[in-house]
Amino acid sequence: MARQIDPATRDALLARVRFYRDLGLTEFYRRPVDPALLAQLAAEPAVASDEPQRDSSQENPIPPRKPMQAPPAIASALPPAERASALQIIRDEIGDCTRCPLHVGRNKLVFGDGDPAARLMFVGEGPGADEDAQGLPFVGRAGQLLNNMINAMGLKREEVYIANVVKCRPPGNRTPEPEEGATCSPFLFRQIDVVRPEVLVALGATAATYMLGTRQPLAGLRGRVHAVRGTKLIVTYHPAYLLRDPRQKKEAWADLQIAMRELGLKPPGRG
Ligand code: URA
Repeated sequence: MARQIDPATRDALLARVRFYRDLGLTEFYRRPVDPALLAQLAAEPAVASDEPQRDSSQENPIPPRKPMQAPPAIASALPPAERASALQIIRDEIGDCTRCPLHVGRNKLVFGDGDPAARLMFVGEGPGADEDAQGLPFVGRAGQLLNNMINAMGLKREEVYIANVVKCRPPGNRTPEPEEGATCSPFLFRQIDVVRPEVLVALGATAATYMLGTRQPLAGLRGRVHAVRGTKLIVTYHPAYLLRDPRQKKEAWADLQIAMRELGLKPPGRG
């Protein structure tokens, strides 16, 4: 019979695995187990619990690894003057969306914000509480940091376009479930096709995963230029992660400098 893990240990383990996943670490390997330890554990009685048995087939705290759906075909480029109305058509099509469970807790749907013909587009994971309240992406603390990052690149927020993988806030700011991401990301791809930025920046592992169509640790994706939907993609840390670990800001700045190089931009004040 499988050994029971007490609920506190189980919750601590889940929190740790979620933390690792936030960092982009998604692969875990079991060390070979000492046979003597296994024999000892087998001899111990299982932890008794009054809790009803959980049906693990109904429980899915860590999204399973499964092939991601193919993204929609790349749409043809629109003249810059037509991009705002093309984005509005996508917004209208999304409507008062009930396509996935995230709509249940939604206050405002967060479609996207910025220049419809921007040369640079940032993609985050999904709205947080501030974004859900205002209907705009990256307006909370992480948004303040993103604004600073944009300004450090010599750009204004209004000059870039910002969107998310999912357009409604996941409860408790959890990572979107695969079904939620799969339902919503086709709209993101259509936004990318309309804006047609020269450079895309994926903020964090979730954005990178959906745009690249593959789950890989963030560390292996940073520091180089990927190709997505005919556009260059740079992967960097999510600003919320940088707020938790400011030491990584230097690394994020190195990533943004790759984006600047691709755009032919120089940091302000350096001629
Ligand atoms: N985090 C995100 O990923 N997106 C937002 O819009 C805000 C916070």
